[in-house]
Amino acid sequence: MQTITVKGGRALSGEVIIHGAKNSALPLLAAAFLVPGTSEIHNCPRLSDVQASMAILRHLGCRVVRQEDVVTVDASAPAACTIPDTLMREMRSSIVFLGAIIARCGEATMSYPGGCELGPRPIDLHLTALRRLGVTVEECHGQICCRAENGLHGADITLAFPSVGATENVLLAACTARGTTILRHAAREPEIQDLCDYLNACGAHICGDADGVLVIEGVECLHGCAHAVIPDRIEAATYLAAAAATGGHLVLRRGCALHTSPVFPALEESGCVIRTCEDGRTTEIRAPERLHRLGTVRTMPYPGFPTDAAAPLLAAACVADGTSVFVESIFENRYKYVDELARMGAHIRVDGRVAVVEGVSRLQGASVACTDLRGGAALIVAALAAHGKTTVTELKHLDRGYEEITACLQAVGADIQRE
Ligand code: UD1
Repeated sequence: MQTITVKGGRALSGEVIIHGAKNSALPLLAAAFLVPGTSEIHNCPRLSDVQASMAILRHLGCRVVRQEDVVTVDASAPAACTIPDTLMREMRSSIVFLGAIIARCGEATMSYPGGCELGPRPIDLHLTALRRLGVTVEECHGQICCRAENGLHGADITLAFPSVGATENVLLAACTARGTTILRHAAREPEIQDLCDYLNACGAHICGDADGVLVIEGVECLHGCAHAVIPDRIEAATYLAAAAATGGHLVLRRGCALHTSPVFPALEESGCVIRTCEDGRTTEIRAPERLHRLGTVRTMPYPGFPTDAAAPLLAAACVADGTSVFVESIFENRYKYVDELARMGAHIRVDGRVAVVEGVSRLQGASVACTDLRGGAALIVAALAAHGKTTVTELKHLDRGYEEITACLQAVGADIQRE
């Protein structure tokens, strides 16, 4: 069993290089299946979820090679339109392959993503939208069997909620459909823009406006291209939280300050000073010796405060002077990691979607286990701030979303080891 050991209490100081965004890389790899040719995905992070996507592509008949940070996908000869349950279970978000497989093969079969560590993960919005594009959906023995007998056609679709995954599935299914698709109330996350940029570079005709309306004019066929994944705004937010919790001073390079900016107000309220450089790619944070309360943090779809950044910031709030409140509006069950933080001496009360964090003057090292990806990041942030030794287990969650987190933190002065 692998563990991370942290001896906390050191203020972090130095530079961190931000990797490519997990939540962009995954839909981009699914999108590469649409292209009867070769795509080069640059700045592709080394994460277990990315490996799971690569395994799915290989199962579907693609040639997939990684060299450094470039993943090359040759999808010239698809060989399957089914994702086996074992691969689906590795990564719940593999549902984003659905739109790509139907568009390319005319049919797709995969198992339901089912429940996950964040609570139930329904896909009703995905399926309703795909039906509007001409897909018939049947459920058989826990499998979703989708077919577009007469091909996919454009439609005017309004999402009941701006779901990121449903927006991605519609984009993938609609870009080679007959006619024009209008998608209203679409997600506006930066990863959606990244997917549109990649698809347009492959020959798709997608344009969007700031109000969340996407217009997708179907084209006959796509062609390969080279595309670089945008920086990971959640990884960046996690390092900002680590600096905040330890009274540190970090400079994040190769990030995107604009995409990360929804977390700035909460950090500034707690006394951190954040500076972004003109290139838009560098963010500097200077934290006070002890944070003030973070106020009320309410997660919202982009450009609101990202749900994925709430856990690491909540960990920082545990050592702030005063009471902070977190309200989770996206997922039902995002506070599993709170019990682990309590082992370290954190004072947190959870009532449904609300967590009230009463800051304590110090956390104590303890043995804790990651319950989910961002909850795992919260434990690392708390461990960096805690006095004494923390041992973190269940690292598989962390490996889904953080590339080389121990090396990155060592480089900025943390006493952290992986064994
Ligand atoms: C993506 C991100 C995830 C992030 C989330 C919200 C990836 C791989 N994952 O997840 O890290 O936390 O966006 O920013 O990009 N919902 C339904 N029915 C549906 C689809 C969604 O009820 O058909 C609900 C979900 O249960 C959830 C909410 O809508 O409560 C948001 O989900 P969605 O935006 O779809 O998130 P994901 O795409 O799964």
